[in-house]
Amino acid sequence: MTISGIIKFKFKGLEVSLRGLSPQDVTREYVDGLNKEHLFLETKPDAVTISSQIEYIRDIEKDAMRVICGLWCGEKLIATAGGQRLDIETGKAPVIGIFIFNENFRGQGWGKILVWAMCHFLIKNLKVISIQASMKKVNLSSKGLFLRVGFEVVSEDAYYYHLELKSKNLAKPDEVTF
Ligand SMILES: CC(C)(COP(=O)(O)OP(=O)(O)OC[C@H]1O[C@@H](n2cnc3c(N)ncnc32)[C@H](O)[C@@H]1OP(=O)(O)O)[C@@H](O)C(=O)NCCC(=O)NCCS
Repeated sequence: MTISGIIKFKFKGLEVSLRGLSPQDVTREYVDGLNKEHLFLETKPDAVTISSQIEYIRDIEKDAMRVICGLWCGEKLIATAGGQRLDIETGKAPVIGIFIFNENFRGQGWGKILVWAMCHFLIKNLKVISIQASMKKVNLSSKGLFLRVGFEVVSEDAYYYHLELKSKNLAKPDEVTF
């Protein structure tokens, strides 16, 4: 699905934006980042190329149930967030996943900003009332940042935590200003 909206804000004084990712936004750095991630992006193919990633984004654009957004720090694309199960007719909450492919941007709060911005984008544009996410139990930073913006653990199994956000509980990080 293509959603025309854009979220713009400041984080630590930097201009940041989140909007739908287009095929022409695919960069070598993004593709290299996908190929380097072996632990936590479970649905991606083993080997990604620029053309396979462009094809992947084109498929998402045609799919009413999915969306993929990019997060830009100034002009630099640093991360992506995907949304699935977007058709509210199913009665199930959409699910999101996040990926900061530029490792220089990890461990500084960008993950939290990405989840907040993606949730804000879906709530604003699709009026969703809740959002879900799951992560491996060993992915402590992922769990920590989802909890920081208002998600709660709703269930767990041997390997995963399953979290849910009630849209009214989305908490804007203090470092975000408009
Ligand atoms: C997961 C990922 C998005 C994290 O990004 P990040 O920018 O490093 O995350 P942040 O810095 O915003 O937040 C990490 C939070 O977890 C906390 N955290 C980090 N390591 C932790 C640990 N070992 N135990 C508990 N909390 C931890 C941090 O303190 C931080 O919270 P704070 O901002 O309140 O201090 C990034 O590593 C990534 O893209 N990984 C690959 C893909 C992936 O795992 N996606 C998630 C799948 S659901």
